[in-house]
Formats: sequence, structure tokens, C-alpha cells
Amino acid sequence: MVIVAPSILSADFTRLYDEIKAVTDAGAEWLHIDVMDGHFVPNITIGPVVVENIRKKTSLFLDCHLMIEHPEKYIDAFIKAGADLITIHSESIPKPLIVIRQIKESGAKAGISINPETPFEKIRHLIPEVDLVLIMSVHPGFSGQKFIDDVIPKLKQASEAIKKTKKQIYLQIDGGINDQNAGLVKSNGANVLVAASFIFKNKDYRTAINQLKEA
Ligand code: DX5
Ligand code: ZN
Repeated sequence: MVIVAPSILSADFTRLYDEIKAVTDAGAEWLHIDVMDGHFVPNITIGPVVVENIRKKTSLFLDCHLMIEHPEKYIDAFIKAGADLITIHSESIPKPLIVIRQIKESGAKAGISINPETPFEKIRHLIPEVDLVLIMSVHPGFSGQKFIDDVIPKLKQASEAIKKTKKQIYLQIDGGINDQNAGLVKSNGANVLVAASFIFKNKDYRTAINQLKEA
């Protein structure tokens, strides 16, 4: 079964609660929260205070994608705010394993992510340590970008490495996901599909989510 994780980056922030309720009613199980610091990526978005407020209003699984430098400084704040899963970028820190352990010891799930230009080999050794692997299919920073097809072989590599562990590790893909490529990413092993614009720019969230689930 594939999980669809709407990214609130393309939601109407003036009506954030209504937007979260709408994707919940439309069948979303996770909520993807894009955290950007203006350093690791050129954009600035959401911090722990927003996650804390979202947590008060929803029981959805909160999937926090940290596109920030020094993620180790902010893990406690996101855990305290109610994150269920925290994904860090392998490019953001020299020793990601220390932060992965920090997340898990705090009781949350931990994910590791790689940018489109980062080879899978950079994170292969981390696979048995994480709960989720995130393959970025756009350059992180903004929603609404075009899916980069070149990441498909890397998705497959990650899927094969995950199978070898015999552990339940999610394989997430994020960036430019829509009804045209959802089938392709699923057939290459992705089981958590993040989508911002495809869902929130659609008039009918249920139809959009179902299209991703059934593609
Ligand atoms: C990009 C973010 C994505 C983004 C996806 O840096 O990590 O989660 O919101 O947006 P779409 O689905 O519009 O590509
Ligand atoms: Zn994301």
C-alpha cells in the first residue's frame, strides 16, 4: 500500500487548519512539513512553533523534512513540537548517523535524504539505521518544480538496499510528483509519495490523492 503525504508547502496558509482537515477528509495519512532555513536551501519556511500548533489540531502522522544546516540543534525542538518522523539531509551534516540516533533515542522515527545530484553510495551504510529513505526528485527549496527523471535508477538502488535489510523501511520520493509519474516511482519501489502542488493546486483533493494512490 502506498502512502500519500501532502506537503503543506502549497497549502493556503491563511486557512491552514481547513487545508489540513480537507486533506485528512480526502484520505491523507501523513502530513509532510517542509522545514527550510535559507542556508541549506534558498527558501525559508516553517519552524517548530508551526509544527506544535498543527500537532494540537491533527492526529495525522507528522513527517518533518528538515532542509536545514545544523539539524542536530533543532531535533529536540521538533520532537517536543510533536513530529512523528524527522528526515535530515545527508548533505547537511558530516556525520548524519549521530543525528539519526539522536532522533530515534528521542522516540521519533528517523529518515535520511539525498539531493538529486548526491549518489546513493553516500547513504548506503545508513540504510539499516533509518526508518525512511527520501530520494529527492527536485532540487530542494520550492514546490512546483519539474520531476527529474534521472533519479529513477537511484530510487531502484535504494529499494534494493532496503529489501536486503529485511526491515520495514519506508522509501519516500519528493518533488514534482503527479498522476503522470506516480506509477513509475511506485514500480521502482517508492511507497511514500509526497506531493504539494499536485494536491493543493487541484480543486478536488480526494481525486488528486486517489490518482496518486491508484496510478
Ligand atoms: C521541495 C520540498 C517538497 C515540495 C514538493 O524542497 O521538499 O516537499 O514541497 O512540492 P511539489 O510536489 O509541488 O513538487
Ligand atoms: Zn519535502
